[in-house]
Amino acid sequence: MLTRQTFPAYVAAHRVVMAPMAGVTDPVMRQLAEEQGADLAFCEMVSAKGLSYANERTEDLLEVGPTEREVGVQLFGHDPAVIADMARRVVDLLGDTLAVIDINMGCPARKIQTKGDGSALMKDPDLAARIVEAAARAVAVPVTAKMRRGFYADEETAPELARRLEDAGAWALTVHGRTAQQMYRGAADWGVIARVKQAVSIPVIGNGDVVDGASARAMIEQTGCDAVMIARAAQGNPWVFADVKAALAGAPAPWPPAPLERIACARRHAHLLYEWEPRALVRMRKQASWYCKGLPGASTARGALNRCVTIDDYDRVIDAIEDHLRAIGMEGDR
Ligand SMILES: Cc1cc2nc3c(=O)[nH]c(=O)nc-3n(C[C@H](O)[C@H](O)[C@H](O)COP(=O)(O)O)c2cc1C
Repeated sequence: MLTRQTFPAYVAAHRVVMAPMAGVTDPVMRQLAEEQGADLAFCEMVSAKGLSYANERTEDLLEVGPTEREVGVQLFGHDPAVIADMARRVVDLLGDTLAVIDINMGCPARKIQTKGDGSALMKDPDLAARIVEAAARAVAVPVTAKMRRGFYADEETAPELARRLEDAGAWALTVHGRTAQQMYRGAADWGVIARVKQAVSIPVIGNGDVVDGASARAMIEQTGCDAVMIARAAQGNPWVFADVKAALAGAPAPWPPAPLERIACARRHAHLLYEWEPRALVRMRKQASWYCKGLPGASTARGALNRCVTIDDYDRVIDAIEDHLRAIGMEGDR
């Protein structure tokens, strides 16, 4: 069993992590990421309050796929007692499949932070620390927190908060180098990741603008972070994990996927969603548009995929896209 003392070795062996993404990181997305080398993948964030009401849709977010050995779970909320109770619930539901419980302290979405959840916790370090303390006392699994640079634009509170959370019992911290008010604007400031790393002795996971093997290496070199977490670059692109794994191992970069390989993956993604839960096929809409990015004829393909409703529709449209790619001689181009 892991302890706070042995956790740094676990992180060192799990340096490539897929971030939690609400509406995106379902079991299928996580399976594809792991097939390409992601060491750990997070579920979509889960409302502690929703879980405490035994809300079925909230519990569905904790469903684990048949190929998954372990997952990270992220809770959001602001009541230490509810978070502690729900951390216990998550341990009961997932058992050995649960790798870590993370507390969301970074979500900038209005409907989350105006209720005091997500990034609002960065404005109240005492409460943030009490939440981590309550969760870490409640469960034996690692408890981590994911934060931004600060809440207000140009205000950097992450290093101080990191120290508080380390003292409160956090096992590791993830830092996204933007403030909440910045949302996703501008470039992530990796300097704050380095400053948090200097401020604490627990592992620090760097996040923000890692898009390939080279940027992952650069982040580790520039910040000293122990692992990298990738979000947007994984959308329609599970191969980013193979690229990052190779770069961190000092191995040559794998070939980027050829257009036909990408579209075959989109087909498989649709089938996996359908097999998991026929209703989950609606999630293929945005996935399909991500897979199309950069393909020849992307906008026509995207339009056709957008009109798909059934799995047969997807098969027909993808057959047509493949025929088109072969007709223009793009099947092997990388
Ligand atoms: C669609 C989407 C959903 C997200 N959902 C979550 C979430 O549930 N929890 C969280 O901590 N961060 C969430 N994030 C933020 C990412 O985890 C990550 O911190 C941010 O995108 C920066 O990383 P990137 O540059 O690799 O995308 C989300 C981001 C996106 C784009």
